[in-house]
Amino acid sequence: MHLLSASCACALLIHALFCQVKSMESVHGAYGETIEIPCGFRKFEKPENIVMVKWKYEHETGFLKDLIVKRSDKDEAISNQDAYKDRVSLGSNYSLLLSDVKLTDQGTFTCFLVTSGNILEYRTTLEVIKSPAGLEMLDKAEELEIGKLTKLGVCTAKDANPAADIMWLKNNQPLVDDGKGIFITQSVKEDPVTLSSTTTSTLEYSAKKEDDGAEFICRTKHSVEEHASSPITITVTYSTETIELHVTPQDLLVEGVNVTLKCVADGNPPPTSFNFHLKGETVKVENKNTLTIPNVTRDASGEYRCSLVDDRALEASKNITVNYLDFNLSPSGRIVMKTGEALEVTLQINSSASHSVSWKKNGDILDKEPKFHKIAYSDSAVYECEVTLGPLSRKASFELVVEGAPVITSLSKQHSDDGNHRVLICEAEGNPKPAVTWNINGTLLYESPFTNGKITQKFAVVPSENLTVLCTVSNEFGSDTKSIDVLPLQLKPEKILPEDTERSRDQTKLVVGVVLGLLVATVLIGLAYWLYLKNSKQGSWKTAENENGTSEEEKKLEEKVENSQKAEV
Ligand SMILES: *[C@@H]1O[C@H](CO)[C@@H](O)[C@H](O)[C@H]1NC(C)=O
Ligand SMILES: *[C@@H]1O[C@H](CO)[C@@H](O)[C@H](O)[C@H]1NC(C)=O
Ligand SMILES: *[C@@H]1O[C@H](CO)[C@@H](O)[C@H](O)[C@H]1NC(C)=O
Ligand SMILES: *[C@@H]1O[C@H](CO)[C@@H](O)[C@H](O)[C@H]1NC(C)=O
Ligand SMILES: *[C@@H]1O[C@H](CO)[C@@H](O)[C@H](O)[C@H]1NC(C)=O
Ligand SMILES: *[C@@H]1O[C@H](CO)[C@@H](O)[C@H](O)[C@H]1NC(C)=O
Ligand SMILES: *[C@@H]1O[C@H](CO)[C@@H](O)[C@H](O)[C@H]1NC(C)=O
Repeated sequence: MHLLSASCACALLIHALFCQVKSMESVHGAYGETIEIPCGFRKFEKPENIVMVKWKYEHETGFLKDLIVKRSDKDEAISNQDAYKDRVSLGSNYSLLLSDVKLTDQGTFTCFLVTSGNILEYRTTLEVIKSPAGLEMLDKAEELEIGKLTKLGVCTAKDANPAADIMWLKNNQPLVDDGKGIFITQSVKEDPVTLSSTTTSTLEYSAKKEDDGAEFICRTKHSVEEHASSPITITVTYSTETIELHVTPQDLLVEGVNVTLKCVADGNPPPTSFNFHLKGETVKVENKNTLTIPNVTRDASGEYRCSLVDDRALEASKNITVNYLDFNLSPSGRIVMKTGEALEVTLQINSSASHSVSWKKNGDILDKEPKFHKIAYSDSAVYECEVTLGPLSRKASFELVVEGAPVITSLSKQHSDDGNHRVLICEAEGNPKPAVTWNINGTLLYESPFTNGKITQKFAVVPSENLTVLCTVSNEFGSDTKSIDVLPLQLKPEKILPEDTERSRDQTKLVVGVVLGLLVATVLIGLAYWLYLKNSKQGSWKTAENENGTSEEEKKLEEKVENSQKAEV
């Protein structure tokens, strides 16, 4: 139709002249800018002998109207006085320069070149591109109820040509209308005056739980320009679906600890108050979800529940067992027992879970429970029992004191190092501390401290004849005596063969006989010498010592014994 009318116009114009339609091009121009519409010959050879150039445009009435006319001998004449007034001029190569392009300028522009023998006609369609003024999101819904189709927003791209196409993105991923949870409705409205189009796109969205915090944006890409709305971040609201009761400590619960109950519920916004049901009692907490029961006892065992304040149907429960440990140890305190008696130890344990028992005697670990069928002095000690159940630990103890008549555990003899006396060793047990006595005169060399009911004495004697030495130990409960035979001292020290009670006398019989003979001789000689001395002293009335019966030999022995005592200590 255009072509037809153009040809018609051409025909009218040129009458007899030869008419040539050379081309039909199209040009895009940006709105508001100046656009150059070439007189189409650029593609061809420039015609020669141009007499006149005329630009026309196709008026909406369908007629061609003059825009600009230039004859070779005259200035260009602007003949159009309507919408193009002051906006058209001729450019190089006879192109049409159109400034401040409007959408209403769109249409067909025709350039006629009149040469000496020809009329050339070039037609160009103009399309004006106008980006939308911006992209705006309205009617925003930032809180979406889960699963409920909600109008999330309306995006508008105004005054564009051609009409803008709006795209929706969630977390930068394009959304596609799926007819279920995503509905995108787009409409375009053209302004009859400016001819620009406004596109409106509505997103209806049914949010899922995982959409909480998602970012939505609408975007449009128009020619080269991109526009995006400011993003909206949605909150997905949903009511509580699950509720759980957590108990700490999680592992073995024992008496005395603080138990914390925690009610964990989902939902957005999450619930802020809870009811805790503790064995028939209801406690409401607000703005927190925990409840602590301090210092629990076994009576706290039972079923615990928590629920939402406004929805009793949502409830969680847990059975709690508070473990306990009771024990009783008998005897206790300080018990005094006699040797040989029996003591029954009873350990009574009531506990709700498996436990371990350990024993100590005077701080040293025993590998089993002590038993006292026949008490001995060695049983005297502090006994401690510890029972453990997880973090619970209980202790009890008793002190066993063993009393009784003393008993000699050992009586033995030794030579002194220098062979001048015999050392008798009497070891005894008893409580209270026994007194140790000897039936002969001698020197106490050493007495051990009395510990654990034990005592040891070392006693030096100088036997001049066959002796039976008795060691006697006694306390308020009784006494014990043991004897040992001691032979007289030999003249020569016999360090190589230390004597003891177990030694067979047969072996030494011969030696002892010889030694005794020698001893008797010595004694006789000594006696003679003493008589001689006594007689000689009687004449001079010299000392009082001799009258007391202390001999020189005895004095010497005492000195020696004292020396050896020092050595012992
Ligand atoms: C005019 O057109 C000729 C080709 O016909 C071309 O070579 C020349 O560059 C054009 N001049 C301008 C200013 O466009
Ligand atoms: C138990 O709670 C009380 C206060 O109620 C606190 O003094 C005590 O330290 C807590 N015990 C433990 C083991 O945390
Ligand atoms: C815990 O309870 C027991 C008995 O109920 C009590 O003897 C003890 O003193 C309590 N402990 C604390 C820290 O309150
Ligand atoms: C707690 O124990 C009771 C009975 O002993 C039982 O009916 C209930 O199901 C238990 N609850 C849980 C959470 O185990
Ligand atoms: C242990 O339990 C039994 C029976 O319940 C009771 O007779 C006994 O006294 C309890 N023992 C202790 C140490 O609590
Ligand atoms: C011990 O010596 C004293 C004199 O010092 C004497 O009277 C007593 O009889 C002696 N006892 C024995 C058992 O030898
Ligand atoms: C001393 O004992 C020994 C051996 O037991 C014996 O042979 C000797 O005759 C006794 N001597 C005296 C004086 O009793």
